[in-house]
Amino acid sequence: MTNPQPAQVDDSRAPDWVRHAGLRKWVGDMVRLTKPAHVVWCDGSQAEYDRLCLELVASGTFIKLDPKLRPSSYLARSHPTDVARMEDRTFICSTRKEDAGPTNNWVDPQEMRGTMNRLFDGCMRGRTMYVMPFSMGPIGSHIAQIGVQLSDSAYVVVNMRIMTRMGQAVAEWLGEDGDFVPCMHSVGAPLAPGAKDMAWPCNENDKWIVHFPETREIWSFGSGYGGNALLGKKCLALRIASVMARDEGWLAEHMLILGVESPRGGKSYVSAAFPSACGKTNLAMLIPPAAFKGWKVTTIGEDIAWIKPGHDGRFYAINPEAGFFGVAPGTSEATNPNAMKMLRENVIFTNVALTPEGDVWWEGMTAEPPARLVDWRGKDWTPNCGRTAAHPNARFTVAAAQCPSMDPKWEDTAGVPISAFIFGGRRSTTVPLVVQAPTWEDGVYMGATLGSETTAAITGKVGVVRRDPMAMLAFCGYNMGDYFAHWLEMGRAVHHPPKIFRVNWFRRDANGKFIWPGFSENMRVLAWIVERCHGRADGFETPLGIMPRFEDMAWVGLEIFGREKYAEISAVDGTAWRSELGSHDELLGRLGGHLPRELARRREKLQESLAA
Ligand code: GTP
Ligand code: SPV
Ligand code: MN
Repeated sequence: MTNPQPAQVDDSRAPDWVRHAGLRKWVGDMVRLTKPAHVVWCDGSQAEYDRLCLELVASGTFIKLDPKLRPSSYLARSHPTDVARMEDRTFICSTRKEDAGPTNNWVDPQEMRGTMNRLFDGCMRGRTMYVMPFSMGPIGSHIAQIGVQLSDSAYVVVNMRIMTRMGQAVAEWLGEDGDFVPCMHSVGAPLAPGAKDMAWPCNENDKWIVHFPETREIWSFGSGYGGNALLGKKCLALRIASVMARDEGWLAEHMLILGVESPRGGKSYVSAAFPSACGKTNLAMLIPPAAFKGWKVTTIGEDIAWIKPGHDGRFYAINPEAGFFGVAPGTSEATNPNAMKMLRENVIFTNVALTPEGDVWWEGMTAEPPARLVDWRGKDWTPNCGRTAAHPNARFTVAAAQCPSMDPKWEDTAGVPISAFIFGGRRSTTVPLVVQAPTWEDGVYMGATLGSETTAAITGKVGVVRRDPMAMLAFCGYNMGDYFAHWLEMGRAVHHPPKIFRVNWFRRDANGKFIWPGFSENMRVLAWIVERCHGRADGFETPLGIMPRFEDMAWVGLEIFGREKYAEISAVDGTAWRSELGSHDELLGRLGGHLPRELARRREKLQESLAA
């Protein structure tokens, strides 16, 4: 084994299509800091993708799935310490602590730069540094933002190629002096000369996901998983973009975007925020129940929305991503047939189980589990062994273009006009099926006080209710109180702000069973929402807002649900709501002087109407 020497990189090593002197210089500086053995400028081609996949198979990171059962697809198994986003290791390093606010981890930027320089010094020894110019949003579009990610993980490169527009075309568009967000990433596991690599290199002890919102930089160390490592997604398109959006008068949100065609004609678009692993992917690809004739749902995006005021007084939304990094467990022909079609080929699976035939399986994919599997940790698995076969946060990476329900306008740079915003979370109790906010301000209060039971998408305790404002708790790159103020202001920035709704498909009965059938049946709620936006559905006023009566919703094909169950899922319990308000206060109280007075007033109004 030859001793890999640090790459001697100067500007001349960049390909001709990189004409940006600042980019060449930054890469040179980062090579000197991290000391990789090789540097590869990614062109984003299929040939490059195929070559890296072969290398990942050779190094043991990828297992190639059976070419007949799952063509051109791979399985990766991550290290058990590296399976989800780590919110306690995520930092917003603004100059003033107050600008990060009480809901973000903050470290003084000077101090953090010192830490990053120490951690990244020599961290790529023995590895290849990949340079990935990428675009969030269609290349060349005025709404798109360019990033350049440096990473020592080939797994990250192949995922970034699916999730973003990546490679030569982006560098060419960047030209000689375009703006880009520098995104520094290392798995933090330098390779000693001759040492054997791990299948999933990462730093078991030390992980950092760091943002400098003022200089718009991202530094991520130690993790190779999902949002920790694919820096275009949560780091750029949400944390950094939320700061850009505040400064420039738009919204960067943790929202799906879908189109609804109704039998009365016309098409409406809605955007919906749910916390991680609470059903955005499923809702975005929904197929209405068979009896629900004339309705159709199309997909624009399933995780992130960039929303800008249009000249006609409406908000227009685009999906900045090019692929989906979706939760595998629970995905099946019954719950999400469109996703099952999209996953037939060209997929990277991470932390699902492997069948003896060389295909994948996860909890919920079929009613009966296979008799034998290899689980996500590479161990033999049988149905009664007491472990799950797939990790609960196992994911697939797949190109959006493979989804059968993609809307013809999904890459339209003008975006689609938004009629409604929906906020939803996992709530076993208290929160009714659907409520419309009477005003924009009431809706902002609804979003701001969104609560949800935590899921496996983040490390830590699962199933405890926490406030997750607008599903952005982990993704807002600045002070949460200022973010609420920005939302209030954005309602005044357009003449026709969307109507705002809150939904909860996750309420349970006394036996712990979901009351609402969910999935395709969510179309019934969506239909009421869309019809409300067009003034074509009735509802009645409650202390929480406007709710449908049983007869205001369409029940064709779901006659078994009935009035009694409907009453159970839409019940508003006074005692439960008093403690709910107490829990709102905990979050709002933390915001101190940054809490907009308008929201404090809504809180009082809600208390009064509940008491009445
Ligand atoms: P991130 O990608 O983490 O941001 O999450 P997401 O909101 O896209 O989550 P996703 O749609 O992948 O959520 C998946 C989980 O939610 C699975 O466990 C599903 O079974 C469950 N789920 C989705 N829709 C419904 C529903 O309508 N009812 C119920 N009960 N569960 C649902
Ligand atoms: C989420 O956790 O909300 C995700 C997955 O969408 S990740 O990209 O890992 O953040
Ligand atoms: Mn998400």
